Amino acid sequence: MSAGPASDVTNVVSGQQPGLSHVAIIMDGNGRWAKARGLPRAAGHERGVEALRRTVEAAGNLGIRYLTVFSFSTENWRRPAAEVNALFSLLKAYVQRDLSRLKREGVRVRIIGLRDGLPADVAALVDKAERETAANDTFFLTIAFNYGGREEIARAARGVAEAVAEGRMKAEEVTEATFSGFLDTDGMPDPDLLIRTSGEYRLSNFLLWQCAYSELVFMDVLWPDFDQACLEDALTKYRERERRFGAVLPGAV
Ligand code: FPP
Repeated sequence: MSAGPASDVTNVVSGQQPGLSHVAIIMDGNGRWAKARGLPRAAGHERGVEALRRTVEAAGNLGIRYLTVFSFSTENWRRPAAEVNALFSLLKAYVQRDLSRLKREGVRVRIIGLRDGLPADVAALVDKAERETAANDTFFLTIAFNYGGREEIARAARGVAEAVAEGRMKAEEVTEATFSGFLDTDGMPDPDLLIRTSGEYRLSNFLLWQCAYSELVFMDVLWPDFDQACLEDALTKYRERERRFGAVLPGAV
């Protein structure tokens, strides 16, 4: 089960600072990167995929085991159809081009968010990526696509309500831990660190439940320019933080 808040608090109370295993990233700034170069927004997203490839590699180099990235939000449907289609095409191209390598390297791919509403070919590829990497456990790459935190929580609540109505679960068994099991991130630890690029200071409906105690790092770099050095900067900032999870650290007044 996930190493959620309860186990993190245990670590803190015992004076043992939890390690960093899960980094989540809001990959923002593709549009501005493209605009600054007189290019169409889709070109920024294309370069964004290259930055994602670099970041997966960098995360592995730096000993991170879980990387979760925000690629398409439930609100992104409000963008022009051409841009939405470009993002679908990029996800497809990414899976088609990288799946065999990810498989070989022990990466487990998971796509979180609403599967309904995705074009059938995208949904089929996403299913294939998850199926073919299901046994991998070296690195966990999770792509949030057609994802919204509130939608995920509402869907989980619906799952809990159905389980109770059908007698599979009792109302008193609904706890933080059992509820987490109904989320798309079931089985994953909560993010230790959430990075947002492009100088914006918002969560934008990303991992609202899971980031309850994540450290937040906002960076001025635009996502297509993100690289290992940027990730190392974010990790340095993370290490300077004191994670208390609501507790008082041993020795504090
Ligand atoms: C935010 O930048 C970025 C997105 C909405 C899409 C993120 C997508 C990628 C990094 C590439 C896709 C990757 C896969 C695997 C499909 P923005 O467009 O809002 O930039 P702006 O704020 O500068 O306009």
